[in-house]
Amino acid sequence: MKIKSAEFIMSNSDVRKCPPADRPEFAFIGRSNVGKSSLINMLTNRKNLAKTSGKPGKTQLINHFKINNHWYLVDLPGYGWAKVSKTVRSKFGDIIASYLEERENLVCTFVLIDIRLKPQPIDLEFINWMGENNLPFALIFTKADKLSKNKVQASRAAFNKVLKSDWAELPVSFITSSLSKEGADDVLDYIEDVMGALE
Ligand code: GTP
Ligand code: MG
Repeated sequence: MKIKSAEFIMSNSDVRKCPPADRPEFAFIGRSNVGKSSLINMLTNRKNLAKTSGKPGKTQLINHFKINNHWYLVDLPGYGWAKVSKTVRSKFGDIIASYLEERENLVCTFVLIDIRLKPQPIDLEFINWMGENNLPFALIFTKADKLSKNKVQASRAAFNKVLKSDWAELPVSFITSSLSKEGADDVLDYIEDVMGALE
């Protein structure tokens, strides 16, 4: 898929105030600083469409972008802030959880994973929470430019190995770098395929 237009629509903290759910929507989530906003800029080929920062916690709201006048792309706040919480759900933040549970036009959520790290409990908990709630997702490994090709493959294999203990089938996954633009076409083609299957 070619991105012809990318337009910021609105930011808000409440799923009920999001734009009308009148077109397919794809969201990007992951731990703070994993590279969600950078990836969105890379995919849309815009330098500053989504605001990025070296400090974690830059994105605090649900941000809607309209792409090719046809679908919504959503930049979400990072999870992993609330250290102590009563439920798994509240650990990810109520804004995020309500959005994921209630947004009716949400087709697929991309869960971003930092390729440099060993499988992180918070990411695994999040993925399992998505599964328990029957929410469709795919994985995007980020920052592949920071490791050698061999280490990238080893890191993905290590993550998949852990997932295999909970999942009968492994989720679709992509290797990306916002710096080198690796993986952009693969992610965009996947979005196009998923949208095509809806029509
Ligand atoms: P929050 O909004 O705080 O949740 O963070 P985020 O997940 O949106 O991360 P963001 O895109 O703001 O990037 C965080 C930091 O990682 C920035 O300093 C980016 O420049 C850096 N970064 C993001 N993606 C890549 C990548 O693919 N390669 C490299 N080398 N650095 C990256
Ligand atoms: Mg961000």
